[in-house]
Amino acid sequence: MSKPKVLFVCLGNICRSPTAEAVFRYKANAAGLDVGIDSAGTGGWHEGELPDARARESGGRRGYSFAGQTARAVIDEDFLEFDLILAMDRRNYSDLIAKAPGTQVGKIRLFLDFGSSEEKEVPDPYYGGPDGFEHVLDLIEEASDGLITHLQQ
Ligand code: 4NP
Repeated sequence: MSKPKVLFVCLGNICRSPTAEAVFRYKANAAGLDVGIDSAGTGGWHEGELPDARARESGGRRGYSFAGQTARAVIDEDFLEFDLILAMDRRNYSDLIAKAPGTQVGKIRLFLDFGSSEEKEVPDPYYGGPDGFEHVLDLIEEASDGLITHLQQ
C-alpha cells in the first residue's frame, strides 16, 4: 500500500495547521512512520505567507521546524489526494464538508478526535496573546501522539 497522506486544515494556514504540520512531521519521523504531511487553509487570504512569527517562535522553542512552509488554500484535488483531512475546529470541519465531493466526506475529521482531551477544537490563537500559542501546541502534541497510534494500527 502507498504511504498514507494527512492534510491539516485551519482557517488561514498560518497559525494552527502549520503548527500541526510541524509537530506531526517531527513526531512521525521520530516514530519511524512513513506518511505524507501537508497543511492548508479553508481561506486563501494569507496565500504564500510564512507561518505566523508567534507560531514559529513558540513551536521553535519546543524543537519543531517550520522550514519550507508557506500558506495555501485547500483545493479540490486535496479531497482525492489525501487519506485523512483533519480540521482544527468545527467551522473548518463544516467548511470542508461543504466543499468536498460526497464520496470523500469520510476522510474529514476533527483533529482532536485523535486526542484524549475534553477539548475537541484547537482554538484560533490569532487575535490573542502568547499563551494561546502554547495551548495550541499542547493540544496538537497530544492529538499527534494519538494520530500516530491510529496510523500504526
Ligand atoms: P489560523 O489562524 O486559522 O490558525 O491560521 C488565523 C489566521 C488568520 C486569520 C484568522 C485565523 N485571519 O482572519 O486573518
